[in-house]
Amino acid sequence: MQEQELIIPNHVAIILDGNGRWAKKKNMPRNYGHTQGSKAVERICEDAYKIGVKYLTVYAFSTENWKRPKEEVDAIMKLLRNYLQTSMKTAKKNNMRVRILGDKSGLSEDITKKINELEEATKNNTGLNLQVAINYGSRDEIVRAIKALSLDIKKNTIEINNIDETVMENYMDTKGIPDPDLLIRTSGEKRLSNFLLWQMAYTEFYFTDVLWPDFDKKELMKAIEYYNGRTRKFGAIY
Ligand code: IPE
Ligand code: IPE
Ligand code: MG
Repeated sequence: MQEQELIIPNHVAIILDGNGRWAKKKNMPRNYGHTQGSKAVERICEDAYKIGVKYLTVYAFSTENWKRPKEEVDAIMKLLRNYLQTSMKTAKKNNMRVRILGDKSGLSEDITKKINELEEATKNNTGLNLQVAINYGSRDEIVRAIKALSLDIKKNTIEINNIDETVMENYMDTKGIPDPDLLIRTSGEKRLSNFLLWQMAYTEFYFTDVLWPDFDKKELMKAIEYYNGRTRKFGAIY
């Protein structure tokens, strides 16, 4: 199928999985897999935007990932710091808007500071909208949303009878961001692992055995071809 004939999903969400297995296959430490995985994120941002994707959301660190060995968590946090640092430059160059999904209060102060600076510095950019989910869990997001909503009810800024799906969406981390059209999960796992449960009610799911550091533009196009097959079959393109 020719690229130009394809309908490009507006919002692609990715559960980037398989960094550890990729490294193991190469007899390298898991953290090497994470380093290469973060490079793959940078590449896919450019590729996705070039083909016309407007929103890209990547799951980088879940609320459950804190249970991993401290050494691995520390290495991922270090990578994150570097990523936030370089994003300041690349976002400017690529006109990219970066937002972080997840509970920022659970991250170290220096990381939260970097996140706030990056979100502020890129908020008027009109290129790719990149969402990075860090310390993110869907159930945690819903609980935080309900807490914030309850406070507003207590303050009388909203009435219980006026709560609907749109109101609820305004309390989620994804406020203002359209729902994903296509979800990709790499490494052969076929579960959501607590990712965007509310937002993916109608998302098409694509699973591939490719391990995340090997995921490239060719693999992205395969996912988009699959998406086109699904949407054609059921006529579900809105
Ligand atoms: C995904 O790769 C990255 C994160 C969850 C941070 P994994 O680290 O889960 O890699 P596998 O699943 O062990 O191969
Ligand atoms: C999901 O991958 C979370 C991220 C990609 C950040 P995991 O590898 O942590 O998921 P499980 O534990 O296998 O479900
Ligand atoms: Mg994994």
